[in-house]
Amino acid sequence: MSKVRKIVFATNNKHKLEEIRKIADNQLQILSLSEINCNEEIDETGATLEENALVKARYVKERYGYDCFADDTGLEVEALEGGPGVYSARYAGEGCHPEDNMQKLLSVLQGVESRNARFRTVIALLINGEEHLFEGVVSGRIIEEKRGGSGFGYDPIFMPEGYQQTFAELGNDIKNRISHRAIATEKLMEFLMKR
Ligand code: IMP
Repeated sequence: MSKVRKIVFATNNKHKLEEIRKIADNQLQILSLSEINCNEEIDETGATLEENALVKARYVKERYGYDCFADDTGLEVEALEGGPGVYSARYAGEGCHPEDNMQKLLSVLQGVESRNARFRTVIALLINGEEHLFEGVVSGRIIEEKRGGSGFGYDPIFMPEGYQQTFAELGNDIKNRISHRAIATEKLMEFLMKR
């Protein structure tokens, strides 16, 4: 009987867990932070996505001893020189609602012609005393008004390159195949499966 490797994904975000578990299929048993009884907030104090992902993964490894991976994602808008980037979750202020972030971005970009943007995910993996980083990028643009009801975060205003629908209109099945997180996760899986 083959033994499925247990690994912690340093998040309690149910959307992300659902996404990543689908991508992982049954190849790995992915535990959330609450499933290992880690109930404290892990500060995201880094200035880059890479730093934040590493901070979270190291926290779990050091305190709980599990092999662990952590992700950090940012929406990088060309006209904003890569912003909100690492600050995407709190673009409209600490503890704000995702809706506020979207509204702020739409109003900042009002009348701005260049709408190019990309989602970038960095996954930090801590395993057997080694640290590894994996990156996934999806390019696209920010549309003028929200469209679609699925997904989360900035999905209703992000239209990936090659599509005429936003992430929120495309639905989870398509998004999970083409997303920044899917690309980074595939790299992570490929790495883990080789070991
Ligand atoms: P996190 O690092 O994954 O928590 O993401 C930071 C911010 O980017 C959050 O505000 C999310 O709403 C947003 N975000 C992350 N991934 C996605 C996505 O797949 N679609 C839309 N927004 C996202």
